Formats: sequence, structure tokens, C-alpha cells
Amino acid sequence: MILAERIAIITAAGSGIGRAAAIAMAREGATVIVTDRNGEAAAETAALAGARAIARPLDVADEGAITALVAETHETYGRIDILHNHAGIQIAGGLEEIDGAGLDRSWAVNVHAQFAACRAVMPIMRAQGKGAILNTASNAGVFLDKGMLAYITTKSAVITMTKQIALDYARFGIRVNALCPGWVDTPFNDPYTKQLGGRDALENVVSGMVPMGRFGKQEEIAEAILFLVSDRSSYITGHALVVDGGECLAGGANSAP
Ligand SMILES: NC(=O)c1ccc[n+]([C@@H]2O[C@H](COP(=O)([O-])OP(=O)(O)OC[C@H]3O[C@@H](n4cnc5c(N)ncnc54)[C@H](O)[C@@H]3O)[C@@H](O)[C@H]2O)c1
Repeated sequence: MILAERIAIITAAGSGIGRAAAIAMAREGATVIVTDRNGEAAAETAALAGARAIARPLDVADEGAITALVAETHETYGRIDILHNHAGIQIAGGLEEIDGAGLDRSWAVNVHAQFAACRAVMPIMRAQGKGAILNTASNAGVFLDKGMLAYITTKSAVITMTKQIALDYARFGIRVNALCPGWVDTPFNDPYTKQLGGRDALENVVSGMVPMGRFGKQEEIAEAILFLVSDRSSYITGHALVVDGGECLAGGANSAP
């Protein structure tokens, strides 16, 4: 087991990729603190992940709650080895479609919350001389996209913030990387599916845009997550790992997951 005796915190693990990551980390021996804004969904994930997982409600837009969760985890287990900042929101629209509140909310959840969680765990990881942080961005943070101002700017900021923190903390044994998934079939894409007019239209978009011709599976993304939070990637920091079936090779297209 590649995460034996590790203590891991994951945000937004009540569904989708975060849930798959929690299950995979627990399978590899980690004690996983499964958090989500939806406490019941977090509890369901923890039940699926097994005895070593515990659930806590956490809305990452609440900086005080992030700090408290990190402190509680440290007090209980004496260490924190892994932080996976997975929560993110997508507010669609270009400059004239989104308003300032939508832009601010995107920055609060997608960027500020990751900053706050990294800041809270850093003294603990620095004292340990070791730690792995993974910030979920998107392949949409690597290329530009039409009509997605809030999502693109925040996800590219996640990648830049990740690299900067990695640079500043590498000498303390702390690795910080970003995860950039492409299309993964989760409820995250429901609003876009509605916008397109239904499931068939979404599948057409994905098969047309992705060179591999299909969605990524949550479990496939979880394997990349395991790699980045485990010692298998012990000499990798400041990297944005794109896991998107080759979509980036085509330079991105019209819409972003
Ligand atoms: N699914 C994709 O195609 C895709 C692609 C690229 C990147 N991503 C990124 O992955 C992350 C989520 O995607 P998913 O597919 O796992 O989504 P999902 O819809 O399956 O799950 C999202 C989870 O986030 C939780 N959540 C929402 N706001 C929260 C908040 N403020 N605090 C805590 N939890 C909150 C929800 O309760 C839900 O359980 C986002 O950061 C997203 O940008 C997803």
C-alpha cells in the first residue's frame, strides 16, 4: 500500500472525482478526512472508503472552517501528510454574461479556499519536513476557452499559485502539484449539459473534442491523484498534470469541463 499510515484531507469528496480519490487513498492505506459542503454526501463517501475514513462537513468558502478542520485533524492524528484541494465551481459566461458577484464567488471557492487550506497546513508540513499538496485545476486552466471567463481565469490562477508555492516550499520537503482533468462524467457537468440541450449533445461534444473520443473515468483520475500525493512522485513538484485523453493536444476547443 503506497499511502500506509498517511493522514489525508480532501475537500469536495462527496461526489465525483473527490469521492474516487478518497476511496483510492483509503484503499492505499491512508486515513482520509473526507470533507464536503454536503455533510451527508461526505458521510456516504467515508462509508464507501471504509474504516479508516471519517467524514466532516466543510464549505471551503468559509476560511475559518478550513482552519478549524486542519487544527482538529492535527490535534487528533499529530500530523497531516496529504492535502487535496478539490472543491471548485464553474460559473459560465463571458465578460458581459457574468457579474462581479459570480466572478468573486469563483475566486473565493476556486482560488482563495485553496490558498487558505495550503496556508493552514503549511506550518504542520514544514515541521514534519514532508508533505504533499494537490490542487485541482482543470485542463481549462492550461488553454483558453470561449465564454468561460471566471472558470478559465481561476483555474489558470490555481496552476500559477501551485507553482509559486511549490517553488517557495520545496526546500522544506513539501511538494505541491496541480491536477488538470479534462472531461470526466460527473454531476459537475450537469449545468453545461442543460445548456447544450441534453445528454446526447454533451456526448457529441466530448467525442468530437477529445482525441481519445470519450470521457475520463473518475477512477482513471484517481490513479493520477494517487501518483501525485504518494512517494511515487517524490521528485515532482510544481507540476500541472493534464489527464484529458489528449484534449490539450488539440489546443482546447469551444467549451471547458
Ligand atoms: N468533472 C469534470 O469534467 C472536471 C473537469 C476538470 C476539472 N474538474 C474539477 O473537479 C472539481 C469537482 O469536480 P467533480 O467532477 O468531482 O464534481 P462533482 O459535481 O461530482 O462533485 C462536486 C462536489 O463539490 C462539492 N462542493 C461544491 N461546492 C463546495 C464548497 N464550497 N465547499 C465544499 N464542497 C463543495 C459538492 O457538494 C459536490 O459533492 C472542481 O474543482 C472542478 O473544477 C472537474
